[in-house]
Amino acid sequence: MKKTIRDISVQGKKVLVRVDYNVPLDEKQQITNDKRIAATLPTIQYLLSQNAAVILMSHLGRPKGKVVAAMSLKPAAQRLSELLKLPVKMASDCIGSEVKKMAQDLKSGEILLLENLRFHPEEEKNDDAFATELASLGEVFVQDAFGTVHRAHASTAGIVNHLATAVAGFLVEKELKFLGEALNNPQRPFLAILGGAKVSDKISVIENLLSKVDSLVIGGAMAFTFLKAMGIETGKSLVEIDKIDLAAELINKAREKKVNLVIPVDHTIVDSVDFANKKIPDGAVVKITADNGVPAGFMGVDVGPKTLALIAPLVLSAKTIVWNGPLGIFEIDQFSKGTVEIATLVAQATDKGAVSVVGGGDSVSAVKKAGVDKRISHISTGGGASLEFLEGKVLPGIAALNNK
Ligand code: 3PG
Repeated sequence: MKKTIRDISVQGKKVLVRVDYNVPLDEKQQITNDKRIAATLPTIQYLLSQNAAVILMSHLGRPKGKVVAAMSLKPAAQRLSELLKLPVKMASDCIGSEVKKMAQDLKSGEILLLENLRFHPEEEKNDDAFATELASLGEVFVQDAFGTVHRAHASTAGIVNHLATAVAGFLVEKELKFLGEALNNPQRPFLAILGGAKVSDKISVIENLLSKVDSLVIGGAMAFTFLKAMGIETGKSLVEIDKIDLAAELINKAREKKVNLVIPVDHTIVDSVDFANKKIPDGAVVKITADNGVPAGFMGVDVGPKTLALIAPLVLSAKTIVWNGPLGIFEIDQFSKGTVEIATLVAQATDKGAVSVVGGGDSVSAVKKAGVDKRISHISTGGGASLEFLEGKVLPGIAALNNK
């Protein structure tokens, strides 16, 4: 167990908090989804209530070690200020004498946001001198950037070599509680639903989950690599040829572990898709298959009604549900039925007392699209981080924190 801000005294201290304000911006630098900023409010408000001076640091995008004006954190400072209804000072950099002075002058109850850490190449290199400079700004380190804890960077890992007190914030604590309990102490039946395009992205997650779950649903384009491994016709659906043997091994492993592995038994199929514009071209033929095969010239783009009928009772009887990845091309309305239906079922199961944990940008969008986001137990703020957690990997940004 890692220490949290509740376990230490932050009274009157300068507290350096790593947050993940890597938020989507539109072409006018307007934030299109502020969930990651809102998710850090409990930690910031607690620190302020303890008379701490709060210094926040984050990355935004992948500027590759250079200053990219479009990736400035200024919009995040403004949104944070609106959400907190308090002023938020913005630094023009994250290290250097000017920033150091701002940090030194910061009083109890004040908030300072440093400029994008990744404007310096040293951040991603976990450079020790850079970590030392960051650490010199505060007296205590708080990790609340759950979305970035799978990265061993200067602000997530190296920094703790220079600040003896390094603890988790409330967001990290909450993420670890939900993901950790689902994985290591689930109420049963435990169902996992994995979708998305590529088996290769999810192999380690599938392997790890096969030792934990009672049922595992495989959906999305990745299901076609499994169907191919079963000798089923997949038409022109996306198949990862070099992963077919692995899919066969995973099917055997599921059998050995007595996991109920659900692979779609029917599909919505189409003969062409305009992927670039995310639409169905005029004149394209859309059908539902009678079984799990996809005829030549067609590709599978969503699960069919028989598959949904098979999954529904599993979802509704589950006590723990982990869901990552859409079951079809849900950005195209006609192919979003399976994903939206699953989102609705997961919400119904949660209403009946199941614990549901949804991660990954696309499944999070899907629960929003279905209008059920408020009914999910926990929506993770980490895509890559939550997947690596489900793989059972050590997350460097967590490992670095003080133990209880
Ligand atoms: C994310 O959005 O997943 C995190 O902010 C990490 O970003 P990264 O993949 O660029 O390291």
